[in-house]
Amino acid sequence: MLKLAVLVSGGGTNLQAILDSIADGRITNARIVTVISNNKNAYALERARRAGIPAQCICPGDCGSRERFYDALLEALESSGADLVVLAGCMVVMPEKIVKKYENRMINIHPALIPSFCGKDYYGLRVHEAVLGRGVKVTGATVHFVDQGTDTGPIILQKAVGVRPGDTPETLQRRVMEEAEWVIMPQAIDLIANGKIKVENGLVTER
Ligand code: GRF
Repeated sequence: MLKLAVLVSGGGTNLQAILDSIADGRITNARIVTVISNNKNAYALERARRAGIPAQCICPGDCGSRERFYDALLEALESSGADLVVLAGCMVVMPEKIVKKYENRMINIHPALIPSFCGKDYYGLRVHEAVLGRGVKVTGATVHFVDQGTDTGPIILQKAVGVRPGDTPETLQRRVMEEAEWVIMPQAIDLIANGKIKVENGLVTER
């Protein structure tokens, strides 16, 4: 059974989608062993506790330095015994030592169709503002493995979502989450947990 560590920063709706998918069998062969937040007030922590999953906050502010924060995070991941690290709305940019340690074993969800609207300055509502600002008619979400770059790792799944006239960044963000993120994040975990995909030359293919 694949052991998941889920890293969160906010509301935790993607975490909820994973919890629900494990409960109803859309994800098989996986369980969450720990939920870690960098933000004490993240509602995601409450969702984890309600589901009876060990949840902890590792806050940069309590660690003294960025380096010590990363060390604490790595230590928590290692001691959880996680096989796969899931960044589910996690706003922490992962340092090289964590990315290396979990090469092809750490995934992230991005709320756009990579390689559009991704990279350093594209996170949260900014992504959807940029999508509306450019006038594209289709956006979506992407689940990818995490590598050293920002949103540059091997793509596992993508799902398109139509932009509608009158959309605001908020309405679009909500629809991308409902129609795409909460669907493909669980699907990607299920594929990995059941050994259905592999990474070769930076590309994800079916086994
Ligand atoms: C999602 O839009 C995700 O794509 C982005 O942050 C948001 C997280 O939402 N990285 P939640 O905390 O899972 O509700």
